[in-house]
Amino acid sequence: MAHPFSTKPFPSPISFAILILALLISNKHAYGCYKSIISFGDSLADTGNLLHIRQPNKPLESGRWPYGETFFHFPTGRFSDGRLVVDFIAQSLGLPFLEPFIGGKNANLSSRNFSKGVNFAVAGATALDISFLEKYGIFNSQTNVSLGTQLDWFKEFFATFCNTNPDCKIFLQTSLIIVGEIGGNEYNYAFMQGTDRKVIESFVSAIISNISFTVQELVKLGASTVMVPGNLPIGCLPCYLSYYKTSDGEEYDPKTGCLNWLNRFSEYHNDLLQMELNRIRGLYPHATFIYGDYYNAAMRLYPSPNKFGFTNTLRACCGVGGPYNYNASAMCSTPPATSCNDPSRYVSWDGLHLTEAAYRWIAQGLLEGPYTIPHIRTCSSKVYSLQCPCIYYRRETTYPPKVVINRIQTIFARFFWGDEMGQS
Ligand SMILES: *[C@@H]1O[C@H](CO)[C@@H](O)[C@H](O)[C@H]1NC(C)=O
Ligand SMILES: *[C@@H]1O[C@H](CO)[C@@H](O)[C@H](O)[C@H]1NC(C)=O
Ligand SMILES: *[C@@H]1O[C@H](CO)[C@@H](O)[C@H](O)[C@H]1NC(C)=O
Ligand SMILES: *[C@@H]1O[C@H](CO)[C@@H](O)[C@H](O)[C@H]1NC(C)=O
Ligand SMILES: *[C@@H]1O[C@H](CO)[C@@H](O)[C@H](O)[C@H]1NC(C)=O
Repeated sequence: MAHPFSTKPFPSPISFAILILALLISNKHAYGCYKSIISFGDSLADTGNLLHIRQPNKPLESGRWPYGETFFHFPTGRFSDGRLVVDFIAQSLGLPFLEPFIGGKNANLSSRNFSKGVNFAVAGATALDISFLEKYGIFNSQTNVSLGTQLDWFKEFFATFCNTNPDCKIFLQTSLIIVGEIGGNEYNYAFMQGTDRKVIESFVSAIISNISFTVQELVKLGASTVMVPGNLPIGCLPCYLSYYKTSDGEEYDPKTGCLNWLNRFSEYHNDLLQMELNRIRGLYPHATFIYGDYYNAAMRLYPSPNKFGFTNTLRACCGVGGPYNYNASAMCSTPPATSCNDPSRYVSWDGLHLTEAAYRWIAQGLLEGPYTIPHIRTCSSKVYSLQCPCIYYRRETTYPPKVVINRIQTIFARFFWGDEMGQS
């Protein structure tokens, strides 16, 4: 893993306040003696599920060249040129790359070995049921899999797993469970289909509560460490920059060229998510809920790309046309779209997803930097045997009195429901 740099971006006052709050009440570390990873989410984490779900007559971009060109050298179903954040996390824990749960035509659940981890993430998946979006006339052409579907798959998997593994409870307890990023597709579909901004804002709390519901279900089944990543800065993604291109220079951040109002939208989602995590920390004091700050881990790449080895932040590596090298009718892997010579110089891979190089920096920021709250302290297999005697150990948690938290949250809530975002 590349050397850590520290170029911390300036978070919004609200994010900052919440960060402080989270630090105050999360007076504990998640000890990283993880023996496996269980992942839920969308294309930011899918290692092949959607590719296996898809009928051969409905081809998928991520099943075609140049997807996978940098690392695997063939398309694996990952929406990138190489490894994803979850792949880097697995590697740093000394675990194999995560197997997609959907194993293709010949998959037989009881004949597969998921003892080091399993991935339920499906590209295109939403946090809410497909029917929720359909009510608003929003269409998901990728998949009908939601987070709820993934939770059902997990329950099916876990029941089968427990039949053959009497230690299945320990498996779950010593697993790093990653729920997300998820919910981003609701926003992607809605924003790209021109849904009114106010309507999209109204989805946020429903999305957060379903993410929270899933996390709590997992804890009730015995999960003990759950990381919940927030959304990326969508205002920096070529697809959003293209769709919401404007001649009003004021809408762009002069330091990054990103669209401010869209980034504020991501921060709004992330702020509500962190508040909800704070709430359930109180309900399940024996579990550890880690917030994965994908937003700031990614955001630091944009103002000073050179420090991270990038020459291009807002132009997609793989695509065609326009100021951002992005055209929704000619996506990466579809002619005339082509891939750039050196994806490691680009933050954006295909306009919506990031390159392996960018994902590596995000993972680095989570594992070694300040972007997990509480910190995900990982043990590489070497450190692991030296420092972590594999006892699941946790410091006592000290929460400030509930009234104090409630007071602070009420103050924050006023901020949120004020005229915070999406106005421009
Ligand atoms: C699935 O695999 C198990 C164990 O290898 C085997 O006993 C079972 O017959 C297989 N089921 C099917 C439907 O192939
Ligand atoms: C699954 O793989 C692990 C090592 O990765 C091994 O220890 C275990 O015995 C395997 N289980 C089965 C049922 O094959
Ligand atoms: C999703 O679609 C598949 C077929 O494409 C169908 O079998 C399945 O029942 C659908 N699931 C939901 C939740 O609608
Ligand atoms: C939230 O998740 C639950 C469980 O998966 C599901 O039953 C419910 O319909 C979901 N709500 C929405 C609005 O999607
Ligand atoms: C996008 O690509 C399509 C198909 O190649 C093409 O017809 C269209 O003109 C392109 N749009 C822009 C804005 O370049």
